[in-house]
Order: sequence, then structure tokens, then C-alpha cells
Amino acid sequence: TKRELILSFESSCDETSVAVIEDGTKILSNIIATQINSHKRFGGVVPEVASRHHVEQITDCIDLALSQAKVDYPDLTAVAVTYGPGLVGSLLIGVTAAKTVAYAHHLPLVPVNHMAGHIYAARFVKPLHYPLLALMVSGGHTELVMVKGPGEFSIIGETRDDAAGEAYDKIGRVLGITYPAGKEVDRLAHLGKDTFHFPRAMDGEDNLDFSFSGLKSAFINTVHHADQLGQQLSREDLAASFQAAVVDVLVDKTVQALRQHPVDQLVVAGGVAANQGLREAMTARLAKEFPNIDVIIPPVRLTGDNAAMIGAAAHIELAKHHFADETLNAVPNLNF
Ligand code: KG4
Ligand code: ZN
Repeated sequence: TKRELILSFESSCDETSVAVIEDGTKILSNIIATQINSHKRFGGVVPEVASRHHVEQITDCIDLALSQAKVDYPDLTAVAVTYGPGLVGSLLIGVTAAKTVAYAHHLPLVPVNHMAGHIYAARFVKPLHYPLLALMVSGGHTELVMVKGPGEFSIIGETRDDAAGEAYDKIGRVLGITYPAGKEVDRLAHLGKDTFHFPRAMDGEDNLDFSFSGLKSAFINTVHHADQLGQQLSREDLAASFQAAVVDVLVDKTVQALRQHPVDQLVVAGGVAANQGLREAMTARLAKEFPNIDVIIPPVRLTGDNAAMIGAAAHIELAKHHFADETLNAVPNLNF
């Protein structure tokens, strides 16, 4: 049978990415142009700057993705694009580019939810079986998602304030780490110990929700208090204590969800799934409490924003003939 080749686009935040995916599970190319250096000095993503970068990068990304995959337009089955959630100006660049390619080459256009993309990055590890549970942890989202069937999502728990990645970025700033801080806090954490015992909000409560703003405040207060006393606290121990609090809650709530919703597979997805402490703790805890549940965590290069994951999710939508037309618009606050 003919192979299904999808040209996929991702531009929801600060990475411009274009990929070519075969049959939803094989990465032929995955070009990622990051803008992090342009946003660093502002301490976060500046939407106007992000949009301009996407415009500048996207055509080169398309050319590179196709040439690296050794694929030409006539070989393609469909074009796919993230249409939300994300920054409206950033999303629009990918949506416009994808629509243009689809129109010019008479290809179907598949709209993809960014969070579904993160979850379906797990398809590059192994075939998925439903129902499965996903822990979605990124800079904008922290939620437990039941995936009942192909492309069928329902949120069973979510953060009531900050997302986990957002908390990493905010406390990272206090430690003098530039945006995005997650990776460096993770590295420091492995050199320190949990000596501060920060609060584990909502842990042990009878719900599947999260809260990280109290932890963030406790962290900031601890550092400011020490500053006032002229004390120098160990950055490694601060990072280790913060990470232990985040990881404990993420793992505890996931275990709680698994007790209520029997599944065979757990997927950990989103930028924070790159976290070594989380990967280790989740794997160890499930091996002990749910040895029959398969823990699937995509390789680190596929946990952050990339177009390959959008192609994997699009392949599922393609099978359901879920297409968009030229009226497709960006939906900044898109949910499941
Ligand atoms: O999924 P993602 O690339 O973008 C969003 O959709 O939000 O996630 C980015 C987030 C940032 O907050 C970044 O600090 C965090 O993921 N992150 C990490 C690690 N690597 C990236 N957080 C903790 N540990 C890491 N190793
Ligand atoms: Zn993301």
C-alpha cells in the first residue's frame, strides 16, 4: 500500500517547526528553528518578536523538511497544522503557511490541537492502546487527560493556577537562570538535596487537580528572607527542594488517577516531560505500584514543541477524515 506522508507545521509559541511523517509513526524529518535567544533578554516570549521570527523562518523550514525527507509535494498525502492553543500571532503564521501549501498542491488540510500533538509524540515510542492516561505537563498546561479512543480526550484533573513549566521558569528567574529555566533547574536539582521541604499543594486531597502558585511563593519567600538576613542559600538545594515538591505531586496525582481509571498505558507528555527527576520518579513508582502499566515517555528531543508530534496526531485525524478548509483560523484558547 501507498505510504501516507504528512507535512506538518508547529508554530504555537517560540519554535518554528516543520516535519515530514510517514504513516504517523516514522519521522522522515523534523526541522526545529528555535527563537529562544531572541526572547532570553526579555525573560520570556514576546509575542510580536515571536510572530516576526516565524515569518522569517517558515519557508526555509519547509524546504529543509522536504529535502531532508527526500519528499516532494506530489508525494504528500496531507498537510497538518497546530491551530491552538498558543499565541494568536504565532499560530497564524503556521496556519497560513499550511493553508497555502494545501491550496497550491490540492492537499487535504488537517487541523491539530497542540496538546494532542504532545500526547501523540508517544506514538514514536510504541503503538498506543486505549483507553490510556496522559499526564500533560508543559509551560502552559498541567493536566491529567484520559484518552478514551483515537483523538478522544477528556480532562480529569488540571492546575488551578500556574502550569508546572511556568513554575520552573518563574523560580528559575529567582535563581538567576534565563528563560526557559526548566532544564537548568533540573540539572542543579541533581546536585542538591531536598532540605527545604516546600509544600506539596493539594496532595492527598480527594481530587485530581494541581496547584503550583503556593510552592512558587514559598520558594520566593525563602530566598528573599535569606537575602534580607544576608544569608546565601545553596542553589542546588533550593532547586532540588523545588523539584522534589513538583515531582512528588505530579507522581502522586497520576497514581491517584490510575487507581480510579484502569488503563494499560501511561503517557507523560509536554516540555516538562524532559525532566530527569520526573522521568525517574514516575518510572520507579509505577514499576512498584502498577507493574502492569506501561510508562511511555517520549525521548527528550520530542517532548518540547516540534512538528513531528503534530504529524503523529494528524495521522489519527486523517483516518477519521477530520479536515479543515480555507476558513481555518487560529484558536488561541483551544481546549480538548
Ligand atoms: O511543551 P513546551 O515546549 O511548550 C509549551 O507548550 O508550553 O514546554 C516548555 C516548558 C518550559 O516551561 C520549560 O522550562 C519546561 O517546559 N522544561 C522543563 C525541562 N525542559 C523544559 N521543565 C523541567 N525540567 C526540564 N528538564
Ligand atoms: Zn507545547
